[in-house]
Amino acid sequence: MKKQTAAITAVGGYVPDFVLSNKVLETMVDTNDEWITSRTGIKERRILKKENEGTSYLAIKAAEDLIKKSGVDPLEIDFVLVATATPDIPVASTAAYVASQIGAVNAFSYDLQAACSSFLFGMSTAASYIESGRYKKVLLIGADKMSSIIDYTDRTTCIIFGDGAGAALFEPNEEGLGLQDEYLRSDGVGRQFLKIDAGGSILPASEETIKNKRHFVYQDGKSVFKFAVSNMADVSALIMERNNLGHEDVQWLVPHQANKRIIDATANRMGVDRDKVMINIHRYGNTTSATLPLLLFDYEKQLKKGDNLIFAAFGGGFTWGSIYLKWAYNS
Ligand code: UT7
Repeated sequence: MKKQTAAITAVGGYVPDFVLSNKVLETMVDTNDEWITSRTGIKERRILKKENEGTSYLAIKAAEDLIKKSGVDPLEIDFVLVATATPDIPVASTAAYVASQIGAVNAFSYDLQAACSSFLFGMSTAASYIESGRYKKVLLIGADKMSSIIDYTDRTTCIIFGDGAGAALFEPNEEGLGLQDEYLRSDGVGRQFLKIDAGGSILPASEETIKNKRHFVYQDGKSVFKFAVSNMADVSALIMERNNLGHEDVQWLVPHQANKRIIDATANRMGVDRDKVMINIHRYGNTTSATLPLLLFDYEKQLKKGDNLIFAAFGGGFTWGSIYLKWAYNS
């Protein structure tokens, strides 16, 4: 008998209706459509405008979409994992609230935070629970309301991020499909380059921190770019090599969408053609934890059982890695 693997058996997604285009950003900060498009590949992003709604709103919508499409009974879900860098509130996990709201009342739940690698790392966690034989249905949701931590007067960050959520259900697979291999890394030296300074235990919120805008994302874009380009390409090439995959064996590259130039560099290094690279950065920008599942949501109809997918991500921390997964169904 083949080893029991953990496969994705359903996906769901959600982005808010409000579109923030490059043209509108031109009226908010000193930028222009040409600069944003050529430097990042982003044309527009979605923003959650509903008052008093946080990341859980997005996560619940994505989970409900998955439940509706797949017909999975929420009562049978064992574990709800929410990958997010923007929890609803600092204490009390967003996942617990989401699980209750979607009717997964028999599940346990918690949040996972690894910046833009949150969903990738969450895939490893979700698959491990299944592979161990301990649980049968794990719902992994990647959701971020990035607009809640972005300074819309800072042109270096406000052009990049957007809001959204995506969900994937992990279940046991007896045919050897699902997660095959992973290579996950982190390096704390990177935290100085991409961070929010205040609101944590080092620098709790104060009048001073608010006045000095220390609750917003700070990014040294150039430094992050350098690390991202080399590390995302390296781990993707490594995972192909150690699984004896040539470029012709890879049906899809599923890369984190931080910058089109980083995605292109990764595809080049892998020798993968552009039509095999999932892209949604032009429509959503960088949605942090939601990026990878939103790609699956957007491309689901094109995926075939047995397809080899290489996931790759790089994010704050630094955190990064790559996962090799065999797709398990035709939709
Ligand atoms: O997802 C988590 C990981 N994050 C990433 O992977 C992001 C990695 N970094 C990047 O994607 C890029 O570094 C950015 C898109 C953030 C910036 O692109 P860049 O080509 O690295 O630009 P830069 O920061 O080197 O800035 C070049 C110039 C500067 O002007 P000077 O100093 O040359 O006069 C900036 O002030 O562009 C200026 N600039 C802008 N101009 C127009 C910066 N932001 C903007 C803007 N519009 N929005």
